[in-house]
Amino acid sequence: MRRAFEPAGPLRGRATPPPDKSISHRAALFGAMSDEPVHIGNYLRAADTMSTLDAIRSLGAGVEEEDGTVLVRGVGLRTAAPTTGGFLDVGNAGTLLRILPGWLAGQPGGVWRLDGDESIRRRPVDRVVEPLRRMGAAVDARDGRLPPLVVHGAELTGIDYRLPVASAQVKSCVLIAGLLAEGATAVTEPEQSRDHTERMLVRARVPFERDGLRLRVSPVDELELDDILVPGDPSSGAFLAAAACVIPGSRVVLEGIALNWTRTGFFRIAQRMGAVIVGELEEPAAGSATDEPIGELDIAAAPLEATTVEPGEVPLAIDELPLVALLGCFAEGQTVVRGAEELRLKESDRIAGVVEGLRGLGADIDATEDGFAVRGAGGLEGGSLDARGDHRMAMLGAVAGLASRNGVEVEGVEAAAVSYPDFEDALVELIG
Ligand code: S3P
Repeated sequence: MRRAFEPAGPLRGRATPPPDKSISHRAALFGAMSDEPVHIGNYLRAADTMSTLDAIRSLGAGVEEEDGTVLVRGVGLRTAAPTTGGFLDVGNAGTLLRILPGWLAGQPGGVWRLDGDESIRRRPVDRVVEPLRRMGAAVDARDGRLPPLVVHGAELTGIDYRLPVASAQVKSCVLIAGLLAEGATAVTEPEQSRDHTERMLVRARVPFERDGLRLRVSPVDELELDDILVPGDPSSGAFLAAAACVIPGSRVVLEGIALNWTRTGFFRIAQRMGAVIVGELEEPAAGSATDEPIGELDIAAAPLEATTVEPGEVPLAIDELPLVALLGCFAEGQTVVRGAEELRLKESDRIAGVVEGLRGLGADIDATEDGFAVRGAGGLEGGSLDARGDHRMAMLGAVAGLASRNGVEVEGVEAAAVSYPDFEDALVELIG
């Protein structure tokens, strides 16, 4: 579907981003692994996280949807039921594809085949195949690295694993497999990535230790999880925030947004570029250090200056880096993103998509081996941008259109529904 996004005046008002995608996936999976029912408040109802509810249903969990809350009746940690033919459709959800095998690998006798859409078939899974094999599971992938992914559950043994790339999905997969393994399992990341799984493990009363970037988990018989409330998604909110940063006169307040520091890298980068962003923390519900911090962000447009995003910042802003390129088009000087080669492996090749997409709208931008460099040229002319089936590229095109001089036609705008079904309505509301 093609949609034109015309230049718009300032964005003003308050908006609540949709529920967090990463936390929703984990809440559903942890709920399915629990013995007692778990209520998940503010669960994301978008294509990706509906795939997770379907997957846990196929594995034997009960899922009841009651106004705004999802009730998951889990099957317990050690009893995932083989589905008919063992087939699990993950749709477009890379997080489901890479985290769920950690649980399945520890179910001796079970066999599952995970597959999804055209985009998922290009997402590498060797990063989970390798550690799960080392733990004792038989795991196969097409050409050793692509879905479909076939997991044969087995008795697992704990490992001491160093992740080759910072990935919260792989880290989560190995930690969850560690719950079912004989002995302790340690995971060390090269850089800090989002820590939602770690917080949830602690909340589920799992013996868990952290020493810098090294994490260690011990096996348990069951998870003891209280109800979960999912905060607003900072990655989705970032698209509204970016529009507010580049459209002069804008002032937008994002309410109920997750302020976990492992997710807010984009806001720190935008602030460093000159955007005015002020955060306020809400009183945490239970006041525990493992609860997800939640609050509001007040964002106002201001003249922007170029910046360099260094490799250590990349995992903390990974899904928002296309927006750094957009801000770079409106900033004074050259904005560079380094150490972000992982962007080539997302729902689409986001280095190629961002560079070709924004260049087509008038940007002075080049791809580099591990990111991109963009020279601010007073904004964007406009034109058309192909979302390439990628939700974040569709939303990037829409925001570029509002901020451009002549508007942008976005091809494949419907992809936004993967994470933010009400995205266009939220923009319309802020335009007023
Ligand atoms: C996610 C981790 C990141 C991120 C993705 C969601 C998660 O992927 O890009 O959108 O929920 O764990 P990687 O683990 O591949 O870095």
